[in-house]
Amino acid sequence: MPASTGPGYDYHDTLIIAHAVFASLAALITAPAAILVARYFRSRTWWFKAHIILQIVTVAFTILLFVLSTVAVASGGHGTQFVGPKKDPHHDLGLSIVILLWVEAIFGVAAHYTHTAHSVTEGTFPTIKAKKSPLRHLHAWYGIFVAGLLYAGIKTGIDEWNMVADSGTLVPRGIEITFWVIFALEIAAYVSGWFLEAFRGGRKSNIIREHSTDAEKDETPSI
Ligand code: HEM
Ligand code: HEM
Repeated sequence: MPASTGPGYDYHDTLIIAHAVFASLAALITAPAAILVARYFRSRTWWFKAHIILQIVTVAFTILLFVLSTVAVASGGHGTQFVGPKKDPHHDLGLSIVILLWVEAIFGVAAHYTHTAHSVTEGTFPTIKAKKSPLRHLHAWYGIFVAGLLYAGIKTGIDEWNMVADSGTLVPRGIEITFWVIFALEIAAYVSGWFLEAFRGGRKSNIIREHSTDAEKDETPSI
């Protein structure tokens, strides 16, 4: 094990703390912010630019968190721990989350290049009822799934630290509580966004435009 880098934390633990910070930024800040922008501000011309910038940062964070975790694990002299006697759910789940998120980003780019004719929908949930490419529906639903996995990555990561940190420390209670509070607030905000759409959709018919591509073409807001 390389030399100690700080009070109480050796090389392994220091890398894992940096890993946890990037994981938390991706799972609790950039990914949810991008999704909430897509939920609440789809009628603004800037929504797509905000969504894509935030999600590019999310992808960058997942690259960093992945490299930091594998270097930390390798520093113990065991290589990676995705298979073999030392594998455990956080390692496997973590690897899956990273791959599934990158695939989701590819779906998002592909969805952006699909064409959907303008149409008018009556009633609730125009996002669901709009005639648009299945890729767009796939990206949205699969994106919710990936966001759920990101939260699971944080929860299992906290448990993992409590089991394997060289320092023998536990994740402070305050950090765990903060995680659950942010999680609850973000879920509540997202679900409220769907209720708002149902409420607005029930009151009037909606022109469904071409989503992410509208703003670029004719400056009309996209939904
Ligand atoms: C979405 C969030 C996260 C993802 C995708 C993720 C991913 C990973 C991956 C892929 C590994 C295994 C590396 C390998 O076997 O080579 C790992 C290990 C680990 N992660 Fe995470 N992680 C996340 C969040 C967290 C958080 C928040 C913490 C701590 C609070 C954490 C603590 C750890 C620990 C302690 C290890 C094991 C180190 C060891 O066995 O030596 N992770 N993580
Ligand atoms: C960086 C590449 C990405 C691009 C280009 C992109 C593009 C898009 C587009 C075009 C839509 C609108 C789909 C529609 O017409 O309904 C959308 C919505 C959405 N995206 Fe992405 N996206 C990206 C990354 C991600 C990632 C990584 C996630 C998940 C972690 C994600 C989650 C979502 C969700 C959940 C929605 C639907 C939100 C809602 O309406 O409630 N996106 N994205």
